[in-house]
Amino acid sequence: MIKRRSLLLGGAVAATGAASATGAGVLLLSAPPSSAAAAVGIDPGSIAKYVLKMPVLPDLRPHGASITTDYYRMTMEEAYREVIPGFQTKVNTYNGHFPGPVINAWSGRRVVITQTNRLGVPTSVHLHGAHVPSSSDGGPMDLIAPGGGTKTYTYPNKQAHANLWFHDHAHHLESETVFRGLTGTYLLRDEVEARLGLPSGQYDIPLSVRDARFDDSGQFLFQMDDFFNRQVVLTNGKAWPYFEVAARKYRFRIFNTANLRSFQFALADNSPFTLIGTDGGLLAAPYTTQSVLLSPGERADIVIDFSRYPVGTELELRNIIPQAPGTPPDVSQVLQFRVTRTERDHSVVPAKLRTLPALPPATVERSFSLLMDESSPEPAWAYINGKEYDPDRVDTTIAYDTTEIWTVTNANKIAPHNFHIHLVQFRVLERNGVAVTEGAESGLKDTVFLRAGETVKLQATFTGYRGVYLYHCHLFDHASMGMMAQMEVV
Ligand code: C2O
Ligand code: CU
Repeated sequence: MIKRRSLLLGGAVAATGAASATGAGVLLLSAPPSSAAAAVGIDPGSIAKYVLKMPVLPDLRPHGASITTDYYRMTMEEAYREVIPGFQTKVNTYNGHFPGPVINAWSGRRVVITQTNRLGVPTSVHLHGAHVPSSSDGGPMDLIAPGGGTKTYTYPNKQAHANLWFHDHAHHLESETVFRGLTGTYLLRDEVEARLGLPSGQYDIPLSVRDARFDDSGQFLFQMDDFFNRQVVLTNGKAWPYFEVAARKYRFRIFNTANLRSFQFALADNSPFTLIGTDGGLLAAPYTTQSVLLSPGERADIVIDFSRYPVGTELELRNIIPQAPGTPPDVSQVLQFRVTRTERDHSVVPAKLRTLPALPPATVERSFSLLMDESSPEPAWAYINGKEYDPDRVDTTIAYDTTEIWTVTNANKIAPHNFHIHLVQFRVLERNGVAVTEGAESGLKDTVFLRAGETVKLQATFTGYRGVYLYHCHLFDHASMGMMAQMEVV
């Protein structure tokens, strides 16, 4: 196959020198890259914490509507934004927003978005977690030309409520364009969710969390597979911001939009919060926990009750995932809540949230093995079932309306991966042979985390649309290295 990566990223790859090929995010065993490499750019310890105010992501309004459809326009363009205090960083935006704006969709009501690409590289807009026709799925080769090209995407929204997001998917380019800002939020709501009385309006806040690396002039510094050096944690486009809250319940819909980094979110006082949902919407019932783990692409929907804190309390949201030796402590800090006032709270978290769809009997079983070169110097390659992504090859053919069980294994010794399937929301039946019965993996999922050596068993029903769709590791740098494949529903 043609190695487009060497064509498109040749310079960037050559420049990374001997950077680590592991992209390891968790329980990582590899040493950090050479100290010379690590020293380049702004030291995260020098960035003042909790001085920038966390913005609430802006809603995008439709420019038109019919009985069935809302029409939106978005333009991808560069802008300068204050991401770390005192610097203006050049970022990629949707409509000037870093990260992109929020689309508010309603189940059963169509959304049509015309995207214009004013960046210097081709792009493709994928709505992650959505059940959409292949022609609007934002495939890696279905590109919008740079310098003003347009494409109109149609999203039927024939699925239940879910916390979706959109991002670039242009093959070999997405890891960099996403790093520079091409992500946005798409909240699909429905009656089931709306009836519950959960915290809403200004108490229902999406948090888009990721990491980044900056050079000495405060500009993004992108290198492939640069996990260790991306040590600045951004929430809603700001490094380590603060957010003022009332002493009441809030709903936070957390999106991990990082390229490689997994986060395990916990409150600094270790107090419990309530997990109410995951990638594909609400869990059957609320689940009380002290932390939630999100690999890139995954979402958690949580409710934090600040009424237990006196006004004046400052409370950190932390990242407690184990870090490699040499990792600065800053990576373990995320965001600071400040309880500034009391307020009445009529919201509730009911004991039953939804009925998950029944699992139909599966008739087909398949296995997938995820592997990347761990020891070779750059460029590293990455494979599913021994093959790199080839846009001209269909790897898996699925009969329409079939329910299948997929066993997915991370065959690496060090590198974590995850597994994302387009088109469907799946269920995680087992992790390492143990049945999943509660918690974050008991709901509908479209992305599932796999530490080195782990195996999960997934069940999905492929229906609604025929056509070619992707499945891949959602650590974008790994997908760019080839850990991506195609299925065709026929
Ligand atoms: Cu969010 Cu194919 O990805
Ligand atoms: Cu991976």
